[in-house]
Amino acid sequence: TFVITAPCCNDASCAAVCPVNCIHPTPDEPEFATADMLYIDPDSCVDCGLCLVACPVSAIVPEHQLVERDRRFLEVSVDYYRDHRVDGPAAFTDDLIPLPPDHQMRVAIVG
Ligand code: F3S
Repeated sequence: TFVITAPCCNDASCAAVCPVNCIHPTPDEPEFATADMLYIDPDSCVDCGLCLVACPVSAIVPEHQLVERDRRFLEVSVDYYRDHRVDGPAAFTDDLIPLPPDHQMRVAIVG
């Protein structure tokens, strides 16, 4: 699988290119309030790598290249999909979290 790590800017460029729609946002729930980012479902990812190319902040890493301090993000992703099973492609757009203005600016500059 590929893993989204700390620099995640939550702009969803990765989700737009994923062929199996396995990238989903932080749920709008209190326990996730301080962690707005996107998560790759390790069981659904087909390792195409398109998300890595699309990410404007280089936050996505193949699992085998994770450095020690970032291994926790794989655990976070596993926990996310265990606790928040996402059903079908509509789930992403329905749940998309609005971006803060600074994130939109960063995407505009990079893209
Ligand atoms: Fe999707 Fe990225 Fe995996 S585009 S299939 S999450 S490598």
